[in-house]
Amino acid sequence: MSTFDKRAHEWDKKDVRVDGAKIIADAITRKFTLTPEMEVIDFGVGTGLLGFEIAKKVKQVYGVDTSEGMLSKLQEKNTQECTIIPYHQDILKEPLNQKFDALISSMTLHHIQDLEAFFKTIHNNLKDGGFIAIADLEKEDGTFHSDNTGVHHFGFDKQELCDIVARSGFNNITFETINVIQKPHKDFNIFLLGATKE
Ligand SMILES: C[S@@+](CC[C@H](N)C(=O)[O-])C[C@H]1O[C@@H](n2cnc3c(N)ncnc32)[C@H](O)[C@@H]1O
Repeated sequence: MSTFDKRAHEWDKKDVRVDGAKIIADAITRKFTLTPEMEVIDFGVGTGLLGFEIAKKVKQVYGVDTSEGMLSKLQEKNTQECTIIPYHQDILKEPLNQKFDALISSMTLHHIQDLEAFFKTIHNNLKDGGFIAIADLEKEDGTFHSDNTGVHHFGFDKQELCDIVARSGFNNITFETINVIQKPHKDFNIFLLGATKE
């Protein structure tokens, strides 16, 4: 059982997560045009905090995650009006044979060890003209999480991350601070990385 399987039942109980996902969804909506024809993948969808916000505005959101527990919580939240289709797999080991108009992601990138492999994989899964919108922590000192199990990056440096994204074939790369998470000992910036596939 993964750490996320264990935490799934209480995931949505923290306001900082629910409110944080809304802030990310608003930033994505401001930056990119979402239309009712679009098919979007939420990478590391978890319980769907970001995915359901975006699902209201597009044709279909698919949610990929390696945690069965998180996906089972997500499925409890599916309704006739708004459904996320779950994919339980590691797309780095087992790539999806499907192309999307956009990839969104919230607070998952720091769990991915091989960033080059990740951005190349998702580039293949994006339609021409599609975009990525990925939110995560800016560079931090390793004190954001109380337990760093499964954390492969203590946030991200803007230039280093943008260079990897450019090398993976993306264009129009942007990186902006969209939120600050306040913890008793420190503030942590959240960025939104945007890029397109031409
Ligand atoms: C910090 S949680 C964020 C969940 C959700 N996006 C949110 O903002 O509430 C990270 C999620 O990424 C998932 N995850 C970690 N590594 C993954 C991988 N290689 N592929 C897909 N999902 C992964 C975890 O299972 C977990 O649900």
